[in-house]
Amino acid sequence: MNTKERTIRYIMNTYGRFDLTLVKGEGCLLYDEDEKEYVDFASGIAVNNLGYDNHAVNEAVINQVKKLIHASNYFYTEPQALLAEKLCKNSFADKVFFCNSGAESVEGAIKLARIYAGKFSKRGYNVIAMQNSFHGRTFGALSATGQDKYHKGFEPLLEGFTHVKFNDFGAVEKLIKSEKGNGYCAVIIEPVQGEGGVNIADKEYMKALRDLTAQNDIVLIFDEVQVGLGRTGKLFAYMNYGVEPDIMTLAKPLAGGLPIGAVLAKDKTAKAFEPGNHATTFGGGPLVTAAANAFFDEITKEGFLDEVLNTGEYVKEALNSLKSKFPDLIKDVRSIGLISAIEFYSIKSKDVAVNLISEGFLTTAVQDKILRLTPPLIIKKGDVDLLIESIVKVLNGHYNK
Ligand SMILES: Cc1ncc(COP(=O)(O)O)c(C=O)c1O
Repeated sequence: MNTKERTIRYIMNTYGRFDLTLVKGEGCLLYDEDEKEYVDFASGIAVNNLGYDNHAVNEAVINQVKKLIHASNYFYTEPQALLAEKLCKNSFADKVFFCNSGAESVEGAIKLARIYAGKFSKRGYNVIAMQNSFHGRTFGALSATGQDKYHKGFEPLLEGFTHVKFNDFGAVEKLIKSEKGNGYCAVIIEPVQGEGGVNIADKEYMKALRDLTAQNDIVLIFDEVQVGLGRTGKLFAYMNYGVEPDIMTLAKPLAGGLPIGAVLAKDKTAKAFEPGNHATTFGGGPLVTAAANAFFDEITKEGFLDEVLNTGEYVKEALNSLKSKFPDLIKDVRSIGLISAIEFYSIKSKDVAVNLISEGFLTTAVQDKILRLTPPLIIKKGDVDLLIESIVKVLNGHYNK
């Protein structure tokens, strides 16, 4: 049996996989079993922000493996403390809770918001979330997720989530100012909806949300699992908006490819958690936090994020000209930093992604007709040119008839 056959035989059938077995990576390149090369515009879904085989992350992991892989959170460990300090000093937050994934960070954020409401704001337990959002697959995160296709078959979900239209301030205001408005303790939103198709929140909307939630002591949660940590060209996505959340979730790229999640909060909110309220065995273990320290140091090096912004602008222009080249096929292109989407009128994004694999490029299909690009943040303009050439070739060859 080869790897594909063994996977199909022994692993539960939860993923619609591409027909490709990956073996190793270097920089922005990935290699399959036959050593065929692929330029990565997926980053393991916005995880491998420094690409592959990054020296600093590798060294940190190797050194820490030799010292201490795991210790219980009943004890102090240096990599965890150092990472928390870095995250706080470089963001709005005062305190961090470490966990193991994006979904878990959302669980932590919802639990923190609810316990804060119970202890301090005295509001109810309901949460306002966005239509078309994605927050993960555990029950709390799934209940916050505003896409029915992920809910199907798993009901009943967690009680107390109301989904409103993204970028529609009136919809949130209406709920909070309604008769039952006091029942809402939190609003959760992705500043950029990644899985939803790279939908970017408006500045004015985010400002209005911040004002309204602050006035009512409602916890504002930004889910930055996908777009935090440099993806938008700013260290955190909220920095594009001139507003700060009360809680922020992080995960995906934080530990350079190892599993980690984090809930960041201001003291005002964080103080609601006391010993025994929330915990996880592996959260913030020394190995992953050693890797995360190295990752964080790399992306906060002088000039790193400027380069992301610069390349991001280049991608944006390239996508705009692509759209003008194919006005009958491409409905819209959206971009912020190094996360972008190409929305087609009728072409299935998965088909385009499959064709691009044959051309040597990895991308991801988010919604049925939306192709997403999330390259490593170290991607070069030359690679962007090559991808665009291949998209042109694929669109001309398969669809432009
Ligand atoms: C915004 C957002 N939140 C949460 C998650 C869930 O993260 P994980 O898959 O690590 O549980 C994702 C994953 O795509 C995400 O994009």
